[in-house]
Amino acid sequence: IGKKVRFYDEVDSTNLVAKKIAEEEESDGLLVVSESQTKGKGRRGREWSSDKGCDIFMSLILKPKINPMNASMLTILAALAVSKSIAKIVEKDTYIKWPNDIILNNKKVCGVLTEMSTEIDYINHVVIGIGINVNRTSFPNELASMATSLYVETEQKVQRAELIASVVKEFEEMYLVFLEIQTLQPFMKEYNDTLINAKRQVKIIEYGKEYEAIAIGINEKGELMIHDIDHPDHVRTVLAGEVSVRGI
Ligand code: BTN
Repeated sequence: IGKKVRFYDEVDSTNLVAKKIAEEEESDGLLVVSESQTKGKGRRGREWSSDKGCDIFMSLILKPKINPMNASMLTILAALAVSKSIAKIVEKDTYIKWPNDIILNNKKVCGVLTEMSTEIDYINHVVIGIGINVNRTSFPNELASMATSLYVETEQKVQRAELIASVVKEFEEMYLVFLEIQTLQPFMKEYNDTLINAKRQVKIIEYGKEYEAIAIGINEKGELMIHDIDHPDHVRTVLAGEVSVRGI
């Protein structure tokens, strides 16, 4: 993974570029990196803002021979890889907000947007887009209360190439195991240990309906397990993509 890298100065979105490459070329493991994005995409149709030359915008193309039903688990591995890499490089505790936001000092420092093209029984490609706020010194007002960067939190500039290399290495290590077993079992504990939602009351917004529950942690499929506030033994799972989980 990441043996082939394509660097760009400016693109609309590294995910869009990666998807095009994935459709046209033999590109399993290819990494797309750009200095800036003019149409960065976030989850749920939101925008992802760009500060040219400061941050990381990368998308990894994968063509795994796994059951398409298991492809969303790759997002969990990507979040864990970024979380571990940031923690190591800035020597601070990082947390994960399920399914894949990375949180530093209670603010979001990274988001992951996974997009895939699948048939019923096989995957054409998966694109894992990762945006990390690295050396940016400030945020627009509307983001400032929620978002942060490694620089804002540590007052130290981070080498983006070092962080990208670490993310790729951490991801690859887990990915090779995952391809064999197609479960998150070996990674669950590490993920759940830093899950910011764990044991907390969360608001679940599922198909437009809202309710409150207590988050427990992910299971081996990457689904979030929750239990009713008043009935700890009434455990259910929620799927990423169908719900939004907010802290209360
Ligand atoms: C989110 O938290 O909403 C996900 C944000 C994902 C942003 C990254 S930046 C690189 C890649 N290209 C995009 O257009 N989006 C992802």
